[in-house]
Amino acid sequence: MSIVIKNSNDIAKMRVAGKLASEVLDYITPFVKVGVTTAEIDRLCHEYMRDVQGTIPAPLNYCPPGYTPYPKAICTSVNQVVCHGIPADKPLKSGDCVNLDITVIKDGYHGDNSRMYLVGDVSAPARRLAKVTYNAMWIGIDQVKPGAHFGDIGAAIQKYAEGAGYSVVREFCGHGIGSKFHEDPQVLHYGKAGTGPEMQAGMIFTIEPMINAGKRDIKGMSDGWTIVTKDRSLSAQWEHTILVTETGYEVLTQSAGTPARPDSYAI
Ligand code: MF3
Ligand code: CO
Ligand code: CO
Repeated sequence: MSIVIKNSNDIAKMRVAGKLASEVLDYITPFVKVGVTTAEIDRLCHEYMRDVQGTIPAPLNYCPPGYTPYPKAICTSVNQVVCHGIPADKPLKSGDCVNLDITVIKDGYHGDNSRMYLVGDVSAPARRLAKVTYNAMWIGIDQVKPGAHFGDIGAAIQKYAEGAGYSVVREFCGHGIGSKFHEDPQVLHYGKAGTGPEMQAGMIFTIEPMINAGKRDIKGMSDGWTIVTKDRSLSAQWEHTILVTETGYEVLTQSAGTPARPDSYAI
């Protein structure tokens, strides 16, 4: 159990993988509309990865201990699904909020990112949850610099999300990433400032808060993967892969279509 410090060769390759992961989200954006199924979104993303990018979808057949192999190329988490939603033959309808989580492997290195997509006419409360969750991810990213503690990320996210009247999922977290999909450390989205390991230049990890409109409790579905809110309230998530630099951070999952950093966290 130790945190890998990436060298300049690793970092160069993680920049490439991160950009490609973000470009899959850019590519799929115009297809995320009323009537499309999440299985169709998965197929389009998988073909783009394989045929255009020459990347491998990391989720496909991913099998941590105690799990069955993940059956699809991407995760599609709709409404009350917290994470790991399996693409299916069910069309998106107006008002749905869907998280698309893409992890690609290029040249042995992983890039991992996710965005929320609002389908058709989405209610004001659902739009607010997606926006607060986006801000919460960025408030976490703002904490990243050498000498800061991982607990600073969680504390900042928790304070902001709970201050907005929401709850933070505890069972899933951000993670180190590199030649492995999930490496140390665990990057919690709740906790106490000043706790946890110290950040050092060359560390690479994700920040990917899952924020619920209702209570934080979750429930696993019988497919072995899909996680939903226990109270069936809406849940939102955003994710970037972040490098610690000498002076702060660099977002590795960036491309032409990456949404802008918020100009204010006011809600
Ligand atoms: N991409 C997810 C993450 O952010 C992990 C998905 S695992 C899968 O860590 F097998 F469900 F794809
Ligand atoms: Co991740
Ligand atoms: Co992810």
